[in-house]
Amino acid sequence: MSEKPTGDEVATANDCPRASGMPMLGMGTWQLTDEEVTPEAVETALGMGYRHIDTARGYGNEHLVGDGIKRSSVDREDVFLATKIWKSDLGYEDAIEQAHDAVDDLGVEKVDLLYVHWPAEAYDPVETFRAFDELVEEGVTDRIGISNFEPEQIEAAVDHADHDIFAHQFECHPLLQQDAVREATEEHGIEPVAYSPLARGDVFGHEVLSDIAGDHTVSEARVSLAWLRERGVTAIPKASGEAHLHDNWASLSLQLNDGELDAIDELDEHDRKVDPEFGPWNQ
Ligand SMILES: NC(=O)c1ccc[n+]([C@@H]2O[C@H](COP(=O)([O-])OP(=O)(O)OC[C@H]3O[C@@H](n4cnc5c(N)ncnc54)[C@H](OP(=O)(O)O)[C@@H]3O)[C@@H](O)[C@H]2O)c1
Repeated sequence: MSEKPTGDEVATANDCPRASGMPMLGMGTWQLTDEEVTPEAVETALGMGYRHIDTARGYGNEHLVGDGIKRSSVDREDVFLATKIWKSDLGYEDAIEQAHDAVDDLGVEKVDLLYVHWPAEAYDPVETFRAFDELVEEGVTDRIGISNFEPEQIEAAVDHADHDIFAHQFECHPLLQQDAVREATEEHGIEPVAYSPLARGDVFGHEVLSDIAGDHTVSEARVSLAWLRERGVTAIPKASGEAHLHDNWASLSLQLNDGELDAIDELDEHDRKVDPEFGPWNQ
């Protein structure tokens, strides 16, 4: 008889592994802007056990995410809350102002993690990290993060920030595994965080992932999320409603075997889903 939990057993909040204080499975909120759906989805996620919520100034939904947290019976201090400063606002003064606006919009005293959303436009390692360091000292954020950085930009960030860079958020899933970026991130002791961990829906129907999912009678979403977790990468899938939130949360109970993990390692297609012209890899 198998001792492995079945895919239908949903892990409790305490079972979610943590990367240095950050729960390794979170909820993404990009494009969740509906006034009713968004607070409800956040409240549902927290009720289910999620304790990590990812938003950004650029998503225009911080007030709705904040409403969801307030509506939930989960205490604010038990939620790991991350937001990001948009690329046009990364000059010293704008970054300070935007971070204050972010906590106001979220209705919280501070965030747990504040990311540089993209190293583009107004980003300048000296001025941007001068502001971010000051925001840590002021208590507006507990930690500094970076997002969409290439390996050489990670080096520059580490050199310029006085406080440790805690996390690096970049696109990562079985179809875009980002070996070089993961390596550079981990080399500096920075926690890797995968955005678009379901390849924005493209993990569904992929032959190898579907076969593995079929063998466990689970969805490809769970397989992708379990692979990321086993490879030491935090994931923040976006889901709008209870069924998807539940399915993704249940990935915590899915144990892939070494053969399955290795087979997924072989799937890298360098298939990027988020590819704006200002992405540093396009410069
Ligand atoms: N730092 C950055 O530059 C950056 C860029 C992109 C994303 N992000 C962050 O990463 C988060 C996740 O990335 P993403 O939103 O691009 O894509 P994703 O999480 O890979 O995919 C989201 C899509 O998958 C669907 N979905 C979720 N769970 C599912 C399930 N179990 N079964 C079937 N479909 C499912 C969602 O549908 P429903 O909405 O209908 O549930 C949505 O259409 C974002 O929300 C954001 O917080 C950051």
